[in-house]
Amino acid sequence: MKKINFYSGPSILPQEVLDGCKSAIDDFAGMGLSILEISHRAKPFVDVMNGARAMVKELMGLGDEYEVLYLQGGASSQFFMIPYNLLDSNDTAGYIDTGTWAHGALEEAKLFGSVHVIASSQSSTYDHIPKQWDMGDRRPKYIHITTNNTIYGTQWSPHYIKMLRDETDILIGDMSSDIFSRDIDYSLFDMIYAGAQKNMGVAGATVVVIRKSILGQIHRPLPKMLDYSVQIENASMKNTPSIFAVYASYLTLQWIKKQSLQSIYATNIRKAEKLYGAIDSSDIFIGNVAKEDRSMMNACFTMKDKTQDAAFSAFAKDRGIVGIEGHRSVGGFRASIYNAMPESGVDVLIQAMKDFQVNKN
Ligand SMILES: Cc1ncc(COP(=O)(O)O)c(C=O)c1O
Repeated sequence: MKKINFYSGPSILPQEVLDGCKSAIDDFAGMGLSILEISHRAKPFVDVMNGARAMVKELMGLGDEYEVLYLQGGASSQFFMIPYNLLDSNDTAGYIDTGTWAHGALEEAKLFGSVHVIASSQSSTYDHIPKQWDMGDRRPKYIHITTNNTIYGTQWSPHYIKMLRDETDILIGDMSSDIFSRDIDYSLFDMIYAGAQKNMGVAGATVVVIRKSILGQIHRPLPKMLDYSVQIENASMKNTPSIFAVYASYLTLQWIKKQSLQSIYATNIRKAEKLYGAIDSSDIFIGNVAKEDRSMMNACFTMKDKTQDAAFSAFAKDRGIVGIEGHRSVGGFRASIYNAMPESGVDVLIQAMKDFQVNKN
């Protein structure tokens, strides 16, 4: 039986993407070779790389002032690549600490320059997005935010992103867990990055979108592989890229385009409203975070009676539901409802929550 996959990433993929990957493993683009055994300089792959880069920009509605890269090293490598490329040792960068990943990013930046923490929700276990900001006495070189906090289940609203934009010349967003999931003005950002393994494909590729004008302003020399400008000059092919992961991402982008962003957004709103509605109307479950900051991608909740956690996990598993356990640092439950999760999958989870409550009584 095919499971209903609520894992937080790597995570559920559209069936069309899985089918396309399988067929490319057999024979890629009629080459008579598997995609796993071709040169990255083969024209059919160069077309994939360039096609994927162009489609990211097209879907984001961004112009030629932006470049798109497919890099390796995961979103975590962007935590150090960003300050390495953008922050001189006498500069200050502003970070908003909204969770484990945001915190990891700011800790890495300290290796390269000064970091000013504009706001943090750490003291309340990251249960909200802080809305009061202390900008410090120096205008930050850039501001970094994590638009969706995968582990805690909070998400920045477009309204507050817009407000933050006014505070800085350069706004950077880690969109690893909410890229292409909601209606957002991507041009508010000068840089966006995302590990592909949630809404953009499989692990092994990281998408980086950069407004070119923010580069070339620092004084330190950079190793070629870690220099965004070098990666841009080489169209993301300075060395062997992760061919298979880029291809899977290209297929995912094509799937997104075929659904249309607007339809994906509408479905995501319905899925999230349903699931949070079920949590709020339940007598046994409770949401973890401030309602106005709830993530549309990662719904985090706990049982009022925590001794029932294992029983509910097992009950859900019997119905083919997998991946709903919360991150090991938080516990409880987390249902990741990325773009590829159909509404029917969310319905099955909601039904399991209701039936568990009835069975218990
Ligand atoms: C928001 C966010 N940023 C960064 C990361 C780290 O990504 P990676 O494992 O690709 O380095 C994750 C992983 O889940 C994430 O959710």
